[in-house]
Amino acid sequence: MLGICYYPEHWPESQWASDAQEMRDLGLTYVRIAEFAWSRLEPTEGHYTFDWLDRAIDTLANAGLKVIMCTPTATPPKWLVEAYPDMLAVDVNTGQSRGFGSRRHYDFSSIDYHREAMRISEVLAKRYGEHPAVVGWQTDNELACHDTTPSASASAVNAFQEWCKTRYQTIEKLNEEWGNVFWSMEYPSFASISAPYFAVTETNPAHQLAFRRFSSDQVIAFHDDMVAIIRQHAPGRFVTHNFIPMADTQTDNYALARELDFAAYDNYPLGRTDLFFANADTAQFKRYMRTGHPDFSSYYFDQTRGLCQKNFWIMEQQPGPVNWAVHNPRPEPGMIALWSWVAFGHGADTVCYFRWRQAPFAQEQMHAGLKRADNSPSAAYKEVQQVKAELDELNIKPDDPLHYDVAIVSTTANQWITEIEQQGQSYLHQQVEFEYYHALRMLGLNVAFVSPEAALTDYKLVVVPTMPVVTDSFIERCKKTSATIVFGPRSGSKTEEFQTPQNLAPGKLQNLIQVKVLSVETLRDDISETLHYEGQTFHSNRWREELDVDNKTKVLATYHDHTPAVVQAENRVYVGTLGCADFTRALLEKLAKVSGLTTYTLPEDVRTVERGDYRLLFNYSAEAVRVDGFANKEFVIGSNELPGYSYAVMKR
Ligand code: GAL
Repeated sequence: MLGICYYPEHWPESQWASDAQEMRDLGLTYVRIAEFAWSRLEPTEGHYTFDWLDRAIDTLANAGLKVIMCTPTATPPKWLVEAYPDMLAVDVNTGQSRGFGSRRHYDFSSIDYHREAMRISEVLAKRYGEHPAVVGWQTDNELACHDTTPSASASAVNAFQEWCKTRYQTIEKLNEEWGNVFWSMEYPSFASISAPYFAVTETNPAHQLAFRRFSSDQVIAFHDDMVAIIRQHAPGRFVTHNFIPMADTQTDNYALARELDFAAYDNYPLGRTDLFFANADTAQFKRYMRTGHPDFSSYYFDQTRGLCQKNFWIMEQQPGPVNWAVHNPRPEPGMIALWSWVAFGHGADTVCYFRWRQAPFAQEQMHAGLKRADNSPSAAYKEVQQVKAELDELNIKPDDPLHYDVAIVSTTANQWITEIEQQGQSYLHQQVEFEYYHALRMLGLNVAFVSPEAALTDYKLVVVPTMPVVTDSFIERCKKTSATIVFGPRSGSKTEEFQTPQNLAPGKLQNLIQVKVLSVETLRDDISETLHYEGQTFHSNRWREELDVDNKTKVLATYHDHTPAVVQAENRVYVGTLGCADFTRALLEKLAKVSGLTTYTLPEDVRTVERGDYRLLFNYSAEAVRVDGFANKEFVIGSNELPGYSYAVMKR
């Protein structure tokens, strides 16, 4: 299905009915509304003006559209800020209160804001919870976007002190767990603990990790309360949230998704590619500047699917240039349709575009919509028509089974640890994880993202790009699977409270594979050294561990001086270094084959994915390509000879 983000409050009421009819004619099913409309729903405290929203919903419903209602809590209005100034978060870089004038200025720890946000959510849920046209709810909007998880406010510090009390029980325990004897950082009481900011140089990593855990817990508590209110008044309706990547939110998205029916993702392939390649060389970036990197959207789609282990929605998809990246190119013709199909292929049940009509005012005037500000259709419009026609023909089912042979275990706390103690500027958590994902996708493998709590028995290959904190239960689950498990560097290198394990890295993993990390060096990313693997020469760079192994552990790859770099015992592999893309692919290809998986050799800018009865092929390059190996298949869209920027769908 397809949908759209619509802001009736931005347009004259006389235009609503024709907008709705046109949406219906375009084949859209869902319209998401109201996520920023608080000042129009409650212009002054306690004075509600729902009449316009009633009429907007009726207009959409009369055209046969279904409504996704949002709580408007991402944009608390000015009167609320004036009534409760303590609801503003405090910026952890400057120590200043966040100003009014954009969005997300609130503090998750503010008791006043929590009460007000739940109040408006409840009033809305009571009014529209059982409205026949309102079929689902979205909580807030992109929670914690714009670096808004942590706050250094007095409310946050007070709540953090309580959080510490609950976690550590006594101040002596906290001092010991954090190692506060170092630099005389011992605290006399919980009341004397502050947020880990504004000190002269780096603050204690254990303190930073605790504050990140606390801040994430605050977001989740706020969200869970909102979900409970909606569920109480909107029986039988789904509740979802439009996520952005964990790397950007500093919030544990797995925990945030726990109370939802399914997760949704906001897909901006060009903006994200621009930011991701900000420091890459021009040639590398230019190639994907108008298509997005072939693995970038799906990397987040697969992660989003992993949050609830269920199919997901795209709640927003870029329809043209955005306004917020460093540079904002136009997509190549065909990409709006291609991205939509990538989403469907990776498990999206609905794709909604952002937004119906380009805004002629305020912050996002330069952000494209399906229609231009003068109501003429933009370039994307035709592509949405095309997707709709194809969807009708294919009959993609919402509960199509997705099959995964490979899992990537991804974790928030581990991302935090490697960010807090980066050790080398060129170690970037997201990039490390992406490199493994990219290699697996180049091999044509469907990849599931799973949390560290997941069972590992359903997969043939499990990749753990990095997992500094390993739990006993994770070790037990590793022992129960026959999958080949690959651990990237830094795995097992820290305890839960950010200390070095007594038996050194990889700590508890030594129960699975006999290897010890004797020392670590980090290098600039433009410096690399030889890595020998299977008679070939690759590069090792950025992160290099000196490994000590016993004679039961096999050495798979060695450094330039022939010391071990990658080792294996039974079905467990430990990788002590980051390597070049060719090495990661060669290693994973070998391990995938040994594990009984079929891999493909795809042209560089072609990807494939399976969903239900179909296999999809995507060509991200300008050049036409022929994808060998699929010539005799029954194609329902296109063929294995793909023109530039196109896709094909075949029966499996
Ligand atoms: C999203 C956000 C939307 C809009 C959009 C612009 O992150 O949820 O409200 O701002 O970006 O690309």
